[in-house]
Amino acid sequence: MSDVKDGIAPHGGTLINRLASAEQKQTFLDKADSLPRVTLDQRAASDLVMIAIGGFSPLTGFMAEADYLPVVSDMRLASGLPWSVPVTLSVTEAVAEPLKIGELVRLDDETGRFIGVLELSEKYTYDKQKEAINVYRTDEDKHPGVKVVYDQGAINLAGDVWLLERDPHPLFPDYQIDPAQSRQQFRDRNWKTIVGFQTRNPIHRAHEYIQKCALETVDGLFLHPLVGATKSDDIPADVRMRCYEIMMEHYFPQDRVILAINPSAMRYAGPREAIFHALIRKNYGCTHFIVGRDHAGVGDYYGTYDAQAIFDEFEPGELGIVPMKFEHAFYCTRTSTMATTKTSPSSPEERIHLSGTKVRALLREGKQPPPEFSRPEVAAELIKAMQEK
Ligand code: ADX
Repeated sequence: MSDVKDGIAPHGGTLINRLASAEQKQTFLDKADSLPRVTLDQRAASDLVMIAIGGFSPLTGFMAEADYLPVVSDMRLASGLPWSVPVTLSVTEAVAEPLKIGELVRLDDETGRFIGVLELSEKYTYDKQKEAINVYRTDEDKHPGVKVVYDQGAINLAGDVWLLERDPHPLFPDYQIDPAQSRQQFRDRNWKTIVGFQTRNPIHRAHEYIQKCALETVDGLFLHPLVGATKSDDIPADVRMRCYEIMMEHYFPQDRVILAINPSAMRYAGPREAIFHALIRKNYGCTHFIVGRDHAGVGDYYGTYDAQAIFDEFEPGELGIVPMKFEHAFYCTRTSTMATTKTSPSSPEERIHLSGTKVRALLREGKQPPPEFSRPEVAAELIKAMQEK
């Protein structure tokens, strides 16, 4: 069942809204000093926002054990609905111990600001190694997502949440388009088919190529760079957003593309995160989702197309969003275009592949990435950002 009159149904059928009403907010503020407190790190704070704005529909709070366990083992919530990544609030035993089931807990951000409320329904221990192996496919703490799991507290706090206030994003207020709004914008533009694009890297020509290939077959492109927590050597979100602005200005048809920020944090869970990323974009109203090479991967933990293969573990139509799978794209010197092995007759030496890692190395040496890799205006912006740093 769906409560959405037109457009694709959110995951689970209802777009969740956990933003406190003015009245609820006042009640919470009146109680603020008497409530027990838990401090959310950057990831948990962004998870709170994502739950509140419906980006994580059908979740209404941090996961209870009954959802957590089948998510880890079988990629399903207790209801049977597909869900691939735990959304949990982990704290130390010392923090968990005095909290009582049924009470309201004040959620503060790392600066001590009161940002939300949790109605504590459960406290449970969990198996970190099992979470690592099932979700991240490795138990090595060198993996940045696994390291977060190993470093976090041993107790998960579960329960429904409320966000006190939906603040404008401090850096990108103009691009803060929440799921109810993106759905409205798609309706206003009369887009019936919309492809979502996830990214955590500066846009390069392979990105542009697969975005435009997808755009040839759908009504609109929802460019949705992730601006939540990323690992320290990823390019910062403000630089990446400037690159996207350049692309919007010079290289995209503006009436067919919407640029918006995805406030959530990267997990680097590769295949499992590709499913998670797709479900998030479904909640924003996308009907299709791009999955290219090594989506949400890190290091050599995942095979190039593992994040595509995982979609086949679900029944057709079950996820409610269509993956658009793209092969590794490169610049083909024989045909002087971007291509993949599906479209190019080139031999391997006629293909220019540049990875994000190689580009970061070029930038560190002050060298501009070549035009086969980056649009020149984007390359110049990256160089400028590197020099400023
Ligand atoms: S991710 O961690 O957000 O997936 P990135 O920003 O590099 O990283 O990738 C965004 C999307 O573009 C992903 O779907 C990824 O698979 C795809 N992609 C990146 N580079 C290429 C490439 N050269 N060829 C095909 N797809 C690519």
